[in-house]
Amino acid sequence: MDRIRVVGGRPLNGVIPISGAKNATLPLMIASLLTDQTLVLENVPRLADVALLQRILGNHGVDIMVGGKRPGDSEYKGQTLHISAADIVDTTAPYELVSKMRASFWVIAPLVARMGEAKVSMPGGCAIGTRPVDLLLMVLERLGAEIDIDGGYVIARAPRGLRGGEIVFPKVTVSGTHTAIMASVLADGTTVIDNAAREPEIGDVAACLNKMGAKISGAGTPRIVVEGVAKLNGARHSVLPDRIETGTYAMAVAMTGGDVTLEGAQAELLQAGLDVLARAGVQIAATNTGIRVVRNGAGLAPVEVTTDPFPGFPTDLQAQLMALMTRARGTSRITETIFENRFMHVQELVRLGARIHLHGETATIEGVARLRGAPVMATDLRASVSLVIAALAAEGETMVNRVYHLDRGFERLEDKLVACGADIARISG
Ligand code: EPZ
Repeated sequence: MDRIRVVGGRPLNGVIPISGAKNATLPLMIASLLTDQTLVLENVPRLADVALLQRILGNHGVDIMVGGKRPGDSEYKGQTLHISAADIVDTTAPYELVSKMRASFWVIAPLVARMGEAKVSMPGGCAIGTRPVDLLLMVLERLGAEIDIDGGYVIARAPRGLRGGEIVFPKVTVSGTHTAIMASVLADGTTVIDNAAREPEIGDVAACLNKMGAKISGAGTPRIVVEGVAKLNGARHSVLPDRIETGTYAMAVAMTGGDVTLEGAQAELLQAGLDVLARAGVQIAATNTGIRVVRNGAGLAPVEVTTDPFPGFPTDLQAQLMALMTRARGTSRITETIFENRFMHVQELVRLGARIHLHGETATIEGVARLRGAPVMATDLRASVSLVIAALAAEGETMVNRVYHLDRGFERLEDKLVACGADIARISG
């Protein structure tokens, strides 16, 4: 199993190109099931999750052609996928595939909407929380589908198609909102989605579907209205930049000190995260090519942060912020409200010399003068990168184990950091 070796203590200087967003790419690829025409997605990141979803869609009969390099393409240019779901030959998503990536459960909505039936394995457990799918099933039932659960599979049927309806989410859910949008675009009549998630990735999917001929309004607000249409067409769409990757590298620069431009990043996608960094004493400036992050010498101030749905502070940056606050001059508090078990990185950071105490949903982090390298274990995608951020500032060598978690969501992380002066390398096998 691959590991990553980091020798800390070097500032980061230079340019880091930001990839397309994983959490927009996955639902966009799944949305291709809604049409028999070709959907062309540009700026697609090269990630393990994307490759796995290509297999899952292929199992339904989807053809995916990856565009080759073009003259002048930079080495970090995202890939272009030509996705054609002309013939869906199988409406079952098997346990062997779905159990590897939760988001693949989302295929249930376009399959039942277009084909009138779907059999999809329940996702199973997750390191960061129980993560039920009850609200996704509520959506499908609200739009007229019959739902059965048998042998670990959800069987959804709507032989005469789905019908428009009222959906009010009891809590904000990204997966629920994606499911509601994808299920209602081909439904008979109008659907109103209340207390919808406002994440930028929702807006990106809605923008792409509207290019395909859908009638979606209000994406990005708590109230989304979808007028069903009979058919969707093909389109060409470029995936928006990854705000979580942006925030992660901004925190890495804040941790080590330095001056880095995050190329292609958009500040408005991550304002809450950037505000927290500014409060901690980091210089942040939007430029015409991205976001510039600078910290030279000045210490880090402690912060108090609670994770929230967008536009609040993203839970997917909670672990990275915790790593950063281990070096702050004072005591920080971070409260996690989205997932009930998203503190797996705490004891690993403590192994590097951090002082962190947990009280229910809140972690108290007492800043220390130095961290020391040690072997640590990655447990999930965002926890793993928080260990890399801490290791970049720790004295000596850190070995991060089980980095397959990282590959799910960060494209060429070592290359991007080495280009800015970090001493980091992957050790295969
Ligand atoms: C998406 O997960 C992201 N994943 C997550 O990123 C992200 O942490 C999360 O949204 C919150 O921003 C992708 O986009 C692929 P939710 P999702 O539905 O959609 C509960 C990463 O690191 N809930 O908004 O699954 C749920 O348990 C990943 O890239 C129900 O109770 O999150 C959670 O507590 C990790 N019933 C809360 O709602 C349901 O049916 C928010 O979940 C659905 C969700």
